[in-house]
Amino acid sequence: MAGSVIIAPSILSADFSRLREEVATVEAAGADWIHLDVMDGHFVPNITFGPPVIKALRPHSKKVFDVHLMIAPADPFLEAFANAGADIITVHPEAGPHLDRTLQTIKALGKKAGVAINPATPEDSIAYVLDRLDLVLIMTVNPGFGGQSFIPAMVDKVRRVKKMIGSRPIDIEIDGGITPETAPLVAAAGANVLVAGSAVFKGGTRDSYAANIKAIRQAADAARAEAAA
Ligand code: DX5
Ligand code: ZN
Repeated sequence: MAGSVIIAPSILSADFSRLREEVATVEAAGADWIHLDVMDGHFVPNITFGPPVIKALRPHSKKVFDVHLMIAPADPFLEAFANAGADIITVHPEAGPHLDRTLQTIKALGKKAGVAINPATPEDSIAYVLDRLDLVLIMTVNPGFGGQSFIPAMVDKVRRVKKMIGSRPIDIEIDGGITPETAPLVAAAGANVLVAGSAVFKGGTRDSYAANIKAIRQAADAARAEAAA
């Protein structure tokens, strides 16, 4: 468990009127990946953006575009998100009837495939697709909005997923309510990618984003090192 966690700021908490600038600023502030929350007002009670916005941002960033699809159905749109410049496409198992087929489609598009597990969704939902996965996203809030409170019962789920994964090269990503206070809990349990929206974008300046990212990273890395010792 050596090395630093990957910090993936969610642009859901950025200033949407200045998205290109916000992505550049958060990158300069130390973001590793850019997390893009796609919501349809049907699978989740909020609407954000789709492939055209991702496509517009793509030429302005070299970072991994980590696309979290909170849409149902997802299958008809996978190709559009791949063409828009997603590097990782993550779906929820409830978004379609054939998760295995969806993951095969994402891989056939040449993208990394992830599955997102809602707080009430058992980790068993990925038991038979583990060998198709590049990433498991464990939701630590109910999807739909930034700025919600971290659900502590999910820490145990992180541990269980870590155990299920074994030696497979699968990232464990946590999404929802990540702060310098909650990051160590999930990092110690095995997470190596942390999404953070409100805790990164608070302050509104490059210096505040840098301080925010640093605080989350340091807290998580210290917990990882301690867990590995
Ligand atoms: C929630 C989204 C998250 C969200 C996280 O539905 O998937 O990525 O932006 O926001 P914070 O970090 O503010 O909880
Ligand atoms: Zn997300």
